[in-house]
Amino acid sequence: MREQLLEMKEQALDELNGVMGLANLNDFRVKYLGKKGLLTQVLRGMGALSPEERPVIGQLVNEVRDSLENMITAKQRELQREERLGKLAQEIIDVTLPGKPLAFGKKHPLTQVLDEIKSIFQGMGFTIEEGPDVESDYYNFEALNLPKEHPARDMQDSFYITGEVLLRTHTSPVQVRTFERTAPNVPLRIIAPGKVYRRDDDATHSPMFHQVEGFVVDKRVTLGDLRGTLLAFARQMFGENREIRLRPSYFPFTEPSAEVDISCMMCSGSGCRVCSHTGWLEILGSGMIHPKVLSNTGYDPEIYSGFAFGMGVERVAMLKYGIDDLRLLFDNDLRFLNQF
Ligand code: PHE
Repeated sequence: MREQLLEMKEQALDELNGVMGLANLNDFRVKYLGKKGLLTQVLRGMGALSPEERPVIGQLVNEVRDSLENMITAKQRELQREERLGKLAQEIIDVTLPGKPLAFGKKHPLTQVLDEIKSIFQGMGFTIEEGPDVESDYYNFEALNLPKEHPARDMQDSFYITGEVLLRTHTSPVQVRTFERTAPNVPLRIIAPGKVYRRDDDATHSPMFHQVEGFVVDKRVTLGDLRGTLLAFARQMFGENREIRLRPSYFPFTEPSAEVDISCMMCSGSGCRVCSHTGWLEILGSGMIHPKVLSNTGYDPEIYSGFAFGMGVERVAMLKYGIDDLRLLFDNDLRFLNQF
């Protein structure tokens, strides 16, 4: 049996040298070490051995198996290496091919416009405040001089969470929250950007849109300050030659109130399709803060006065870039967004 084993090992060595390819190596393994392989066949003869011979032959069997396994592993490494080198030799790499371009993100046009609005007002000394999107009836209406049955509430029909809690219809509640938080003798120059919600949905209205509220409170603030501030804004945002005009309007929280128009940048005021042949484009609502809103929050309206305005960011973006459908801003179509 000893001879048989040693002979088998010799034979295996010879045969292994000639093995080519990993699949053949596997056949080789099965032939010698498999369940029905040659080694197992030799082992069957163990029963016939004497008790003294058995452990000696047993040990030899183990040695032969170990060395076969080691040889197979070494051969496997060699074959794998050959296979890899072979593949590499065939592969042609054209190092002059252009690489895959990296996809760079960019800011949404609304964010760009909002950043620009912020930076213009920051340049005039305004600081930024924020308020919650989910607002109470008190801040959204009541404290702004819009009591429960006031008909002007209909101008801003909202989404109610409960009878007293709603999605804010404008950014004006931030005025009240800021007045409440500050001592009633602190002058304020604030803008408050954010999302607002109304039950509107067409080419120029969306149920969610963005506003920037602005307000200034100090001693002796006048309508002239309002006009000057908004003219400076209009010229930085829409071009040096813009003019603005104030049209009488009504908001319960300002008195007097004014709608502010800018001269149309398409026709410079002579009248065209964009401005419906009026020469003017409406950009925001504004006015002198109502004395009641000031006194509600502790400011003395005999000493302090202020102006406020609220502009729609989508509207500014549409005017600036000549976008005729507001919904394009929310469709996330890259063919549109990549133009900005
Ligand atoms: N909050 C008003 C609106 O959304 C706009 C406005 C703000 C008017 C501040 C006057 C003063 O319609």
